[in-house]
Amino acid sequence: MTSRTVGVVGAGTMGNGIAQVFAQAGFDVIMADVSQSALDRGLAAISNSLSRLVKKGTLTDNEAVLIVSRIRGSTRLADLAACELVVEAATENAQIKEKIFRELASVVPASTILASNTSSISLTTIAAWVTSPERVIGMHFMNPVPVMQLVEIIRALQTSDDTHARIHALSLELGKTPVTVKDGAGFVSNRVLMPMINEAAFVLYENLATAEDIDTVMKLGMNHPIGPLALADLIGLDTCLSIMDILHREFRDSKYRACPLLVQLVAAGHLGRKSGKGFYRY
Ligand code: CAA
Repeated sequence: MTSRTVGVVGAGTMGNGIAQVFAQAGFDVIMADVSQSALDRGLAAISNSLSRLVKKGTLTDNEAVLIVSRIRGSTRLADLAACELVVEAATENAQIKEKIFRELASVVPASTILASNTSSISLTTIAAWVTSPERVIGMHFMNPVPVMQLVEIIRALQTSDDTHARIHALSLELGKTPVTVKDGAGFVSNRVLMPMINEAAFVLYENLATAEDIDTVMKLGMNHPIGPLALADLIGLDTCLSIMDILHREFRDSKYRACPLLVQLVAAGHLGRKSGKGFYRY
């Protein structure tokens, strides 16, 4: 990249994590969100995550200060005009993303790569929203971004080899391991993960075992770091439900129907860790 400035749209859990890993890799980062309070929360989360790394001895105090100094917030997408790459990590809603991509395409040059961290929206559809669609690609980070090794790279039908090569190299530069997949509902990660979480919800719904026991089976029996129900609470039950609904709609296959318990928990506002209650209480 000629310019080392990267834009990140969205200061939420994924956006601030992505901003952090770019800053840790030496990039200047402009993190954009709609309000100053959202930016302040994102910056506080980054400081918090960096202090964990300092406490562990992975970073020094000075390095953490330097990393923070590379990140600045903005409430205007126009401020991303000089970025060579923009990673969109806004709310997982197609209308919101369409508005952002159309605006981004009008403020950045055609050479700027436009990546999305979407976990479920078709990259081919996103690419069709903008001019020069060959510069659109999926860069799907995993939560918590600073910790998880994977970047799932998704090629839209329109993505050029050059865009893909640059994002592959960049992911390595971030210290991540990229895996490239084709554009299909749920990509690979959520096509496999979400039906497993949904099945765990069915097992609970059918009263075959407690949430704790279901998770223990998967932790101790399959060596998963946390069980599927605890993971669902970490991801957010609304996100899990919305991805199941997309798989169901796209493949028109009843094997992807969302578990009624998942639907009910979301209707009750029990969304997992972020709301204090999901399959577990926090
Ligand atoms: N920033 C920096 N470090 C962090 C961190 C953060 N935000 N969160 C956790 N860590 C570090 C901790 O400091 C700790 O480090 P050490 O082991 O070196 O001390 C380590 O990560 C483990 O953390 P904890 O001890 O707090 O807790 P844990 O052992 O339960 O691990 C976890 C937490 C890494 C999240 C682990 O539970 C895990 O791997 N869970 C599965 C996560 C997963 O599957 N993510 C993918 C979700 S799917 C997704 O994101 C995509 C989608 O589209 C839905």
